[in-house]
Amino acid sequence: MPIRKKTQAEKAISFWFFAARLMRPISPPQTRFMDRLTHDILIVGGGAAGLRAAIAAAEVSNKLNIAVISKVYPMRSHTVSAEGGLAAVLATMRSIDYDSFDLHAFDTIKGSDFLADQDAVEFFVQAAPDEIIRLEHWGCPFSRDPDGRIAVRAFGGMSVKRTIFAADKIGFHLLHTLFQRTLMYENISRYDEWFVTSLLIENGRVHGVTAIDIKNGELSLIRSKSVIIATGGAGRVYEFTTNGFIKTGDGMAMAYRAGVPLKDMEFVQYHPTALPGTGILMTEASRGEGGYLINKDGERFLKRYVPKKMELGPRDILSRAIITEISQGRGIEGPHGSYVLLDLRHLGREVVEKKLPFVKELTENYAGIDPVNEPIPVRPAMHYFMGGISTDMIGRTEIVGLYASGEVACVSINGGNRLGSNSLTECLVFGATSGADAAKFALENQMTAGENPNSTLVIQEEKRVFDEILGNEAGEERVSTITSELRALMERNVGIFRSETGLTEAARVIRTLKERFRLITVEDKGSVFNLELMEALELDFMLDVAEAITHSAVARRESRGAHYRIDYPKRNDEQYLSHSLARYAREAPRIDYLPVKLTKWKPMERVY
Ligand code: FUM
Repeated sequence: MPIRKKTQAEKAISFWFFAARLMRPISPPQTRFMDRLTHDILIVGGGAAGLRAAIAAAEVSNKLNIAVISKVYPMRSHTVSAEGGLAAVLATMRSIDYDSFDLHAFDTIKGSDFLADQDAVEFFVQAAPDEIIRLEHWGCPFSRDPDGRIAVRAFGGMSVKRTIFAADKIGFHLLHTLFQRTLMYENISRYDEWFVTSLLIENGRVHGVTAIDIKNGELSLIRSKSVIIATGGAGRVYEFTTNGFIKTGDGMAMAYRAGVPLKDMEFVQYHPTALPGTGILMTEASRGEGGYLINKDGERFLKRYVPKKMELGPRDILSRAIITEISQGRGIEGPHGSYVLLDLRHLGREVVEKKLPFVKELTENYAGIDPVNEPIPVRPAMHYFMGGISTDMIGRTEIVGLYASGEVACVSINGGNRLGSNSLTECLVFGATSGADAAKFALENQMTAGENPNSTLVIQEEKRVFDEILGNEAGEERVSTITSELRALMERNVGIFRSETGLTEAARVIRTLKERFRLITVEDKGSVFNLELMEALELDFMLDVAEAITHSAVARRESRGAHYRIDYPKRNDEQYLSHSLARYAREAPRIDYLPVKLTKWKPMERVY
């Protein structure tokens, strides 16, 4: 149950449900008990975007009944692993004249390879500073300059220093600040460790979700006037990623299955610097603070690729540069494959310990290296989805009452390539707009009539989860085998360098993996913390997301941002200055296009 005090009516309902449970047969192989829970606004996901949305909704009215539901405790959301910082123009606060909204917008648009919607970017950069000030007032311990002002650092693709930071642990501090703020509102409750399995959508409107309480395996219908999806990305579709295990694209897949298009899914960002083996992020702040990337000859090889920006070039170009160095024999061989080096030695102990303490801690613990004395082995790892659930500038989807914000959404401000440190700000800006608008929607609309208007959908979902997946005795396939094969395939064929042959083959193999998924056996038939069942449900989501990525990538026969086609190495604005929209269809996704919105900036060649 959500964590808050129950009303009298809820207590009475709980009593009868409890009594009913006692009367059930003991230890059924799976639990099919149906609960009914109701909220005005339900937020799926407890990371930065979800928590910011909850606060924004609560600020609209203390009468609204708001709940945050997440498959992990909010403090374990992937936001916690963010390191480098969040971007915003603090020109007025810092009395500086070298930065402006237009410059932040231009950097973002150029970084996106001109695929970002420029109206959305303009809105984003203008809303960003207020979000920082709000966080500051809520107690976020930002790093400071000696004179007490909030400090800023350099980041990739940004023309000036505008990344606000907290050493290299911004995610931890941001998440704590937001979480603690949500505790102030009595009308925000939580379902921690509940796994949402489907969205209930009928007649073009969302009515709630179905979700499993992981601790007892019970599936519940949770009704809500509006639903905000804030479940983050799908990094675990790939083999080598900086993303936590929880990032399996659940929200994207649920919306997609329910008929909402996924926008720009072909644009998958690799972060240039992760530890080989684990994929642990070596923050871009290392380069923002002056770190070098060197090859096996000790050469700063980026002079061949981004001579003006060097280590502060955008991620898509840097990742391709590293792979090119390695493929041309200038990488270093290691137990986990080839790599290049991130060299911080010249920064000195004080800078590393003060500004990059987490990098030091991580390299010491996971690579046995003190970065003050030795360069760090790094290679690109899948990091972020520019694409996601298609939304407007508020966070609204095509479905009435359904919103998405954060990495799961595609507004789009990131286009073909996101600039580092824009994503946390994006979570705040669009988390806030989604939360406020969902609140307005909930105040203006009634809950759909009737006791349980979605009974058919719920029964279908119960059948899918318990009969077709948990109860499936059809075959010998294992979730872990299909998951590993999917990840290796995506890494090999839908990674940094792509081709028609590789992508088409990936699309074909994903279909066979989907067929094989129907033959899985979940060996654990228990109902308490059945993580094998959760992994099966996640794999089912990942297969849909992988298919959307791959088909969108096949269809875009040009190179733009992070989508690099060796068979079409040039950008083609005439044909592809548009967002892809992947729509769910039984046999294969259907791909449509939507023109990019341009305001002030005409697409130009993207050189750094
Ligand atoms: O390198 C980093 O700290 C990552 C930042 C980001 O993805 O925005």
